[in-house]
Amino acid sequence: MRKIFSLLILFISFNFSAIAVEGMWIPSLIDMFHSDMKTYGLKLTPEQIYSTNNSSLKDAIIQFNGGCTGEIVSDQGLILTNHHCGLDAIQKHSSPENDLLTNGFWAKDQSQELACPWLKVTFVKEIREVTKEVMQGVSDKMSDAEVMKQIKTNIEALEKAYSTKGNEVAKIKPFSQGNQYFMLVTEDYNDVRLVGAPPMCIGKFGGDTDNWVWPRHTGDFSMFRIYAGSSNESVKYSESNKPYKPNHTLPISLKPKKEGDFTMVYGFPGSTDQHLTSAQLEFYQNLERPARINMRQHSLDAMKPAMQADDKIRIQYTSKQARIANAWKKWIGQIGGLKELNAIEKKKEFEEKYMAKAGEKTEWKDKYYDVVGEINKLQNEYGKYEFATSMFIEYFYVGPEMFQHVMNYENLVFNYDKLAEEGKAEAEIERVLNSSKSFHKNYNKGVDRQIFHELTELYIRYVDNDLLPLGFADGWQEMEEEIYAESPLLDEAQEADILNNFGKKWIKKLQKDPALKLAMSIKESFDNKVRSSYRTFMIKREKLLSLYVEGMLSMWPDKNWWPDANSTMRIAYGKIDGSAPYDGMEYIHYTTIDGIIQKYYTGNPDFELNERFIDLHKKKDYGNYAQDGELWVCFTASNHTTGGNSGSPVIDAEGNLIGINFDRSWESTMSDFMFDESRCRNIVVDIRYVLWVIDKYGEAPHLVEEMNLIK
Ligand code: ARG
Ligand code: GLU
Repeated sequence: MRKIFSLLILFISFNFSAIAVEGMWIPSLIDMFHSDMKTYGLKLTPEQIYSTNNSSLKDAIIQFNGGCTGEIVSDQGLILTNHHCGLDAIQKHSSPENDLLTNGFWAKDQSQELACPWLKVTFVKEIREVTKEVMQGVSDKMSDAEVMKQIKTNIEALEKAYSTKGNEVAKIKPFSQGNQYFMLVTEDYNDVRLVGAPPMCIGKFGGDTDNWVWPRHTGDFSMFRIYAGSSNESVKYSESNKPYKPNHTLPISLKPKKEGDFTMVYGFPGSTDQHLTSAQLEFYQNLERPARINMRQHSLDAMKPAMQADDKIRIQYTSKQARIANAWKKWIGQIGGLKELNAIEKKKEFEEKYMAKAGEKTEWKDKYYDVVGEINKLQNEYGKYEFATSMFIEYFYVGPEMFQHVMNYENLVFNYDKLAEEGKAEAEIERVLNSSKSFHKNYNKGVDRQIFHELTELYIRYVDNDLLPLGFADGWQEMEEEIYAESPLLDEAQEADILNNFGKKWIKKLQKDPALKLAMSIKESFDNKVRSSYRTFMIKREKLLSLYVEGMLSMWPDKNWWPDANSTMRIAYGKIDGSAPYDGMEYIHYTTIDGIIQKYYTGNPDFELNERFIDLHKKKDYGNYAQDGELWVCFTASNHTTGGNSGSPVIDAEGNLIGINFDRSWESTMSDFMFDESRCRNIVVDIRYVLWVIDKYGEAPHLVEEMNLIK
């Protein structure tokens, strides 16, 4: 009997395990993928997911400050997003005396909510395809320049015609490499206030050790509230504004969950590159990314011992190190994943299929047969410039901070007369003075010099000599000594002195400053020797990629193509799912609070906890938030997500919020280039853990009471 029963279970769960779904779909085209979502268990109608007439899920989803996603969880405009998305705001409201980062923050009532006038949230009112309208008047006989001009004129006219209602703005964006155009009508709200945030030891639990990694235990959430004018309209910050009344609020499900349950991620993924050709992927996988990783590795290695030895440096460099490490770690994961997928070979196979298909019809052959070869040829011809551009970015903008800092002086030193004539000199001096102050707060010259030393060696090794400033390759070590030992522009007191007494004397001196001179010549040689070839490359590449994708869309019209992410609203669907990325091991689909304590006992500072948390864990007071006696912290699902999906709601089959998306697993980060159904998993903080933290840890049950809980 038992045997039959377990066989049955095996059979059923096997049947249920439909595979993960690739793609980030456009909500207004819901009819295209709704029936497939239903096979995964979705219970909602298309209208409930996206509608311009009635309220729908769409109305509860916002883009958070242009980058992340957030969702509305009460009829008083309360929103949830990630801790790492709200971090900037939390940090701005923190001081040593009132350290919200370390202690967390919970507004006891609305009067305690903290204004963040620099923040905005964006609602999407409508998404509409306008390809025909944008292409109006474009013909085969036109030159490229004429086509571009016509498209631009059409777009401007359309945007103007549709930006008529109140604060709504219509913007048209290219999709599918310019083969489609969609209009996005959006509305910003600018009075957003900080309502709550857990301490860092919860909100960033696991730190960089656990970043991009499963199993995960991060309570990566923070809370804000949108405020509006007396008629619920978008207005500037004012104390008298009222909580925003949303068109839709996500109910929150406290129900038990299991593997195989439907999930949908509704948010604003930033960018993906699914259509790169084999030569392009080869360039990134084998050349460009390894070099970038190596540059960052050297920066991180230069920071690490100094941060370990000195608390001040540790605090100064924490956020810089995290920024550099985030992409560094993702790229390493991506390369591993691409190799394991044999992605370059797969691309080559597809390219052969593509050409064979194009060979089937004269019309296709004329248009598409050569395009793959041309892209690959272009990449090989211009790769040098793309590579030099990436290296320049890593060196000049991500490397030694000295470069950007001294470039601040360029205008004053070389344009002073003009600035003075226009009456702008004082303001410019003031600006540089302020920027110098904030720069030195988090600057250590010794660390920066070490980074300069390491990265210059690599830059010279990586970039062709003829693309570098004359004499740089041989003379840089002397320059290093001059810059870091002598330049007054790296010393706060000397800078203040210069700026407070700015005039002829300093202008003459600074025109010969070794740091400013080097920074300008690095930038100049990039501008003169790389930039324009890189631009030419990008223009040619865009045109060819557009044709390549046009070929896919027209030769396989029945395949459901999804347009690459471009920071517009998308839906990804799948199910709660574990994975087995390595031989001999398996990831289950959820983690619990017990795992937090296990990690704490490793002694790694990224797993530090405070006493209150440890005590609460001992009490095991999980209330309504537990499932079979366990408190889930995170879970994984098979939704195709990318950067920008941070903070996105993870929604169940009935339209209830079950978690907040915040990461992907290490083995799945290659999904930006190529999705793998068996391995690609997004990482979600369980909404029941979020509520437990607010209610029990934060003692802010009034915030939970505002929400609509489904038990
Ligand atoms: N990897 C996630 C993302 O790309 C989270 C980054 C913030 N968390 C961290 N531990 N650095 O944004
Ligand atoms: N943490 C990312 C973000 O900030 C999401 C992770 C991903 O790239 O999937 O958007």
